[in-house]
Amino acid sequence: MRIVITGGMGFIGQALARRLIGAGHVVVLVDNLSPQIHGELPTLSVPEGSSLKRLDVREIADQPALLDGCDAVYHLAAETGTAQSMYRVRHYVGVNEFGTAALLEALAACAKRPRRVILASSRSVYGEGAYVDPRAPDQMLQPPSRSAEQLAAHGWELQAPDGYPLTPVPTAEDLPFAPGSVYAATKAAQELLLRASAPALGIKPVILRFQNVYGEGQSLQNPYTGIISIFFNRARQGLGIPLYEDGFESRDFIHIDDIVAGLVAALDADLPDGLAINLGAGTPTTVTELAEALVAASGHQVPITVTGQYRVGDIRHCFADMRRAKERLGIVPQVSLATGLARFCAWAESQPVFEDGSNKALAELRARNLASAE
Ligand SMILES: NC(=O)c1ccc[n+]([C@@H]2O[C@H](COP(=O)([O-])OP(=O)(O)OC[C@H]3O[C@@H](n4cnc5c(N)ncnc54)[C@H](O)[C@@H]3O)[C@@H](O)[C@H]2O)c1
Repeated sequence: MRIVITGGMGFIGQALARRLIGAGHVVVLVDNLSPQIHGELPTLSVPEGSSLKRLDVREIADQPALLDGCDAVYHLAAETGTAQSMYRVRHYVGVNEFGTAALLEALAACAKRPRRVILASSRSVYGEGAYVDPRAPDQMLQPPSRSAEQLAAHGWELQAPDGYPLTPVPTAEDLPFAPGSVYAATKAAQELLLRASAPALGIKPVILRFQNVYGEGQSLQNPYTGIISIFFNRARQGLGIPLYEDGFESRDFIHIDDIVAGLVAALDADLPDGLAINLGAGTPTTVTELAEALVAASGHQVPITVTGQYRVGDIRHCFADMRRAKERLGIVPQVSLATGLARFCAWAESQPVFEDGSNKALAELRARNLASAE
């Protein structure tokens, strides 16, 4: 098959490309090599066997020949920093939504369109995700984002209206959209645009909603996203690891190998058009557990400090219900966090040391009242 990957030079795109090439497919990567991810002077190492078209996805409507006659498209090109999206709103809407619109226009102009278009969406579309009130555990809840007042009072956990603490449960795909950040809203919009266009274009869309992806190849120089890369980069330089809130916020970390397995399975799987499928480990890990495991795996013994600081737009907990991924794609995550972190650290140690930009990223938020003061 001839397969196009937008954002194909990114963390997930490169890993996917290598797997597809290994399976005998012809792969074309479309990527503008965004400096925030690749640095100002990117060293190009295009996965062997693929070709790169350096192009902003927002311009792809002018180049329909890139897509004409291809068999499938993976749409991965995006800006991905949740906190940064809260003040670079036009840029995030531009790249993520307008970029998707441009892709759809390019598809509309094709004489022979691809059969399948697979979108990399995000668990962020669920907002805070699924909860239950332990007093009525049969009823699924989707609490709204925490208010500014609640965060300022360090009320970290989600609560019932009477203040009773709620319990997070696995989030399934039928939970409605409740984006709590601009990034999340753009991912929901990408899904809606793709679903709305697919029948007219005669393409079969699949939506994959990733939890927190990590692993070998993740950018070590983007201070706006990728908690494991950011923590590693700090630890390696002897800088301590600061934890937001009380350090007990949690995320669902899935290794890149398991994400690629899901992306590949979605290529041929017999699925209803537009079906959304979660891809996560299916288990929560607190940020404290993560930092401790990373320090141990990296061997860089640095202090881990709970700061009580917080960022607007962050969620508290969310982890995937993986039943649909198993039933529809046959995906059961294989790489444990311990194994994945060991592999990530071994790879990251072999990479150049990059200046830590996390304090600058936080200062940008503070300057806009989007993070608590020191
Ligand atoms: N990594 C995660 O944890 C995660 C979680 C949920 C969803 N996702 C989604 O997966 C996709 C890939 O994420 P990733 O982790 O590989 O990110 P990444 O930042 O490593 O890669 C994104 C790629 O897109 C390219 N890009 C950015 N703007 C572009 C533009 N205007 N035109 C063309 N290319 C552009 C970048 O240069 C980069 O190579 C994204 O759509 C993201 O929203 C990722």
